[in-house]
Order: sequence, then C-alpha cells, then structure tokens
Amino acid sequence: MAQSTLITRIGELVTNEDGGWTALADAALVIEDGTVAWTGPAGHAPAADSVVDAGGRAVLPGFVDSHAHLVFAGERSAEFAARMAGRPYQAGGILTTVAATRAASDIALRANLRRLAAEMLGQGTTTFECKSGYGLTVADEARALALAAEITAEVTYLGAHVVPPEFAGDVPGYVDLVCGPMLDACAPYAKWIDVFCEDGAFGADEAAAVLAAGRARGLGPRIHANQLGPGPGIRVAAEAGAAAADHCTYVSQEDLDTIVSAPLVATLLPGAEFGTRHAYPDARRLLDAGATVALATDCNPGSSFTSSMAFCIALAVRDMRMTTQEAVWAATAGGAKALRRTDVGHLGVGARADLILLDAPSHAYLSYRPGVPLVAAVWQSGHPMTAS
Ligand code: NIG
Ligand code: FE
Repeated sequence: MAQSTLITRIGELVTNEDGGWTALADAALVIEDGTVAWTGPAGHAPAADSVVDAGGRAVLPGFVDSHAHLVFAGERSAEFAARMAGRPYQAGGILTTVAATRAASDIALRANLRRLAAEMLGQGTTTFECKSGYGLTVADEARALALAAEITAEVTYLGAHVVPPEFAGDVPGYVDLVCGPMLDACAPYAKWIDVFCEDGAFGADEAAAVLAAGRARGLGPRIHANQLGPGPGIRVAAEAGAAAADHCTYVSQEDLDTIVSAPLVATLLPGAEFGTRHAYPDARRLLDAGATVALATDCNPGSSFTSSMAFCIALAVRDMRMTTQEAVWAATAGGAKALRRTDVGHLGVGARADLILLDAPSHAYLSYRPGVPLVAAVWQSGHPMTAS
C-alpha cells in the first residue's frame, strides 16, 4: 500500500488550480504516490498514514525556475563590483566564464552545478531549467548538457550564447557550427534550444536559423530577447513557435501585441536588472495587456548570480508593480507554463507533490520579509527534502 501524508492546519494553501491564482484558508492537503491526492478544508480532511501539522503556516507549490545558467566555472564578482561603481553591463563578459568553464574538469563543473541545484532546492525551487552556453565548442557544450541532464529534465542547448573568440569575425561560420555538428552532439541531451538575440550576440536571421535548426531536431525554441535594448527577439520567438521570450525588458507596442497573440510566456528576470543596475521590465504593462508572465532567476555568474526565487518575487512586487499573488503565481504556475509543464506549478489533484511550507502565515511574506529565509520544508514528488 502506498504511504499517504496529510499536511493539515495550513493557514494559506496556494493551489493555483484551473490556471489562475487560487488559495484556501484553514486547509489541508494529502500526498499519495508522489502526487496531490486531495485538497480542501482542514476539518474535512481524510485520514492518512502520517500527519504533518503546518501550525497555521502557508503551503505553496514549489517554485519553477524556468531560466538558469548553472553549468560554469569561475566567478565574476569584480565585474559586478565595477558595474556597481558605474561601469555598464556588456554581453562580452560571458567570455570570461567561457574560458574558465573550458578549463574546468568534469568533476569541478558537476560539483558547482550540484551545489547550485541544492541551493535552489533549499530555497523552494523544485523544478529548474538549465542551459549550456559557457562551453561554445562541440565537446564543451555537449559536456555541459550531459551534466545538466543528470539532474533536471529541463535542459536547454544555448550554443548560440555569444560568438567565441576563435570565430571572431566569422559569425556565419559559428552559426553553421551551432546548427550542424554542435547540434548533433547536443540534441540527445536537450529538450530546448535557446539563442541570445541581442546586439553583441546574435541578430534576427541568425537567431531564426538557430531556432529552426533546433526545432527540426525536436527541440523546443525559447529565447533571450530584448534585454539590453529594443530588438527583433520577441518577433523571432513568435515566428519560431517559442514557448517563452525571456527578459522582455524593452517591449514595443508591436512586441506586446506579439506576446499576447502568439502567445509567448514573457519570462521576466529581475535578478538581471538588479545585477546590472538596469531599469526593470514593465510587468504591469504586460499583465494589463493580458500577457502570461513568469518570473525566473537567470542564475548565472555574470548578470544575475542569485538562485533565490523569493528574491525575484520581492523585486517583482516592490519594483515591478506585480501584486503579491501575481508574483507568486508567476514564480510557480508561470514558470510551468514557460516550460509547457502541466504537472508542476500548481497543487491541484494529480499534480506532482512538489510543495513548500513557509515559516509564515501567507505567501505575501515572501516579499514582505525580503531576504529572510522563510522556506521551512520542501517536498519533491511527495518526498520531504529538508526538515521543518
Ligand atoms: O541571461 N543574456 C545572456 N546571458 C545571461 C548573462 C550571462 C553572463 O553574463 O554570463 C543573461 O543575463
Ligand atoms: Fe539568461
């Protein structure tokens, strides 16, 4: 017989059922076979093999971080410090990490990746996406993806992150590599293909070629678009049938119409604006136009070295005019939509039992008490991962 767990006396249970924000007060939830078997008023809860008393605290779906760059070596704190002293962010800093990553052993890369993944889990992230993009040779990109595939199903091939130094002046040559032999080596490990479509990285035609090549190999397109300035990325994403356009810091009226009609999930990455001292994307304008918005960390050693979804929620609420509900939805159900996942990001019956217990009575505390570690316990597929 499967073991069941009842979590009861939940002060606020965020379920995100039926696509939108939903929360129940004085609630309970039953986990069975790694999935959510029942939710409802605590007074009506069925018996279970074991019982957890939430003591009036809040239970939420685990965070779904749909954008992270975790396979890398080295760090760039000096670059961050220089930016805080007034130097602008440039895409070229990526090459510093490329050099360190190429020089690193598999053991060192795996250890760094797993340390970051554990850091995420401890902060309530139960599903995360992980990109390559700091190898930029056939062998180094394939190695990054093989390592990522060891610990997540959401693996993204980002060979088109920047043009590496050995292809300086030969962008078409590098795009051919990305769409040819590198794709051949990487596709077996990846579910998604991504491209950094930005001045200093790849233009519209190159980005479209990369996404089309990935699609032809069964990879789902996604994109880094409109981060550092206006550009064609959102249009390219829509034309490629992408799941999401990520960053969306510069969004024209035409881009906005495209996001809503395609539709594309607009994945906002406020950690990147924080880490580059850049203006935040206009989340309110996207939401008011009817766009689906996700929040993700963009965890990477350059622009956004945070693994904390709670930090991103706090920034979104305080500085991007998202309500506390909208931000938590975007960090859970929104992330799931950006990854086209229906089993995570919500706690409806049948969902994967990925959930977090907060040391707080409501979701609002994630932004009301910024910087405070509020995640008291995490369950992944119904298994308790940290003690409460
Ligand atoms: O999402 N935009 C491109 N890639 C990362 C930055 C990576 C880096 O600076 O190392 C981003 O912000
Ligand atoms: Fe990124």
